[in-house]
Amino acid sequence: MTDDLRRLVYYSRNRTAGAPEAVDGTIRGILETSRVNNARVGVTGALMFNAGCFAQVLEGPTSAVEATFERIQQDERHGDVALLAYDVVENRLFTDWSMAYVGASQAEVARYGDLADSSGFDIARMTGDRLCAVLHGLALEEEAAAAA
Ligand SMILES: Cc1cc2nc3c(=O)[nH]c(=O)nc-3n(C[C@H](O)[C@H](O)[C@H](O)COP(=O)(O)O)c2cc1C
Repeated sequence: MTDDLRRLVYYSRNRTAGAPEAVDGTIRGILETSRVNNARVGVTGALMFNAGCFAQVLEGPTSAVEATFERIQQDERHGDVALLAYDVVENRLFTDWSMAYVGASQAEVARYGDLADSSGFDIARMTGDRLCAVLHGLALEEEAAAAA
């Protein structure tokens, strides 16, 4: 059986209620778990949390991406999981990140002008490729800002 390199992109609705600090704590926990688990199985990617939605890119060997996504889908901290892309790819985009985090503010996302309209950032209108490109751009920016 081949274990091709895959890239999966989805978005979902946040089901975590509570004060901003509690939500921050939840996201920190998700990232810590993700970074440990993903590094172990060769999954890389990025997670965005914005306006009540999550968006995530997972890339790695098919078997590892599928097992990870199965677990994620069952997680009750989010729901209405919508798959945007699941493709065999030649190369990884997020080579250096077991799980990059981009907590994109409205202002950051607005800079990607064609992705935002007057009602704000509409994740449901994006293609997998677009969403992946946005997350990659934001991950690079956050890395540059952290290194400055
Ligand atoms: C939006 C979201 C994204 C997640 N992303 C990942 C991920 O990339 N990798 C991962 O292992 N778990 C991820 N999780 C957590 C899993 O759903 C699950 O809780 C975790 O994998 C269980 O790991 P453990 O058995 O080591 O505690 C995510 C959860 C949510 C809500």
